[in-house]
Amino acid sequence: QNIAVLFGGQSTEYGVSLQSAASVIDHLDRSKYAVIMIGITREGAWFRYNGSTDEIRNDRWHSHASRIPAFLSPSRSIAGIVELAGTEYRTVPVDAIIPVLHGRNGEDGTLQGLLELSGIPFVGCDTLSSAICMDKAIASSLVRAAGIETAATVTVWEGGDMEAAAVEAAKFGFPLYVKPSRSGSSFGITKAYNRSELLAGIREALAHDKKVVIEQNIDGFEVGCAVLGGGDEPFIAEIDEIELAGGFFDYDEKYSLRTSQIVLPARLDTGLADQVKAAARLIYKTLGCTGLARVDMFIAQDGRIVFNEVNTMPGFTASSRYPNMMCHSGVTYPQLMDRLIELAIA
Ligand code: DAL
Ligand code: MG
Repeated sequence: QNIAVLFGGQSTEYGVSLQSAASVIDHLDRSKYAVIMIGITREGAWFRYNGSTDEIRNDRWHSHASRIPAFLSPSRSIAGIVELAGTEYRTVPVDAIIPVLHGRNGEDGTLQGLLELSGIPFVGCDTLSSAICMDKAIASSLVRAAGIETAATVTVWEGGDMEAAAVEAAKFGFPLYVKPSRSGSSFGITKAYNRSELLAGIREALAHDKKVVIEQNIDGFEVGCAVLGGGDEPFIAEIDEIELAGGFFDYDEKYSLRTSQIVLPARLDTGLADQVKAAARLIYKTLGCTGLARVDMFIAQDGRIVFNEVNTMPGFTASSRYPNMMCHSGVTYPQLMDRLIELAIA
């Protein structure tokens, strides 16, 4: 089978995608798959790449001699990746696409729309569920309507009344989280301990997105649950837990784990673990997810489960949470890739 792996992308999480995609490529069984690597630069230019995964990891892939301009045809009459060979375009047939892109223009439904138009099966959530999960405000309102607790939020738009939003949010009590509504890896997120930090946080988040969510702090800790598959009974893997030494799980901590650590399995009693898994299943189904997602929730001090967010293309390095949770539940990384491709093609 010809499997195209997409990496990079016009997103603040470009660098994270390089690490995730290099691992995905390294874990695809070459006796089953011919891998077609397609890199997308930060500027949005698409290239077929034929070098090593190390040069993807260190971001030198785009100056590699093998790279040639390529794009995905949205037309079903030219099905596949179209690449420029010399002065001519040629089409490379593709059986399935793995879009290992995080955040904007990759995990937010825009790319999924193009993939759907192409008619080529692809791994992961469809256009609608990707777009819903990318927008923290929309995802929360749907999860709340399904009966799962979410943090109280106030939404403020660019050009909107920041002062009024700050007054409204302050009623939840400080600290508060200020988040771009559509971001990933904590880019643009700050924790505000007072009104002036809150206003500064809103301005910071507005640099990332026109829509900003101010969120109540949940005293407790965060857990994640890896979900795989579609239909009525997706597979729910082991739960992990983020142990924080202080502050919050910002970009630096996520990728350095300097003071925090991921505990797998989470230290929850069986009853609570079952409730968390049931909540993850309900959230996944409510938001229309297919393929895979990592569902992030808080466990409040009194044991309440509070929704945080869903990542439809969670980090995928060999030490990332999603593949580790799957592995802990008996699905190795190569088996996970086989399963994801099967699900896409089914
Ligand atoms: N947005 C990052 C990649 C994650 O959720 O793992
Ligand atoms: Mg995220």
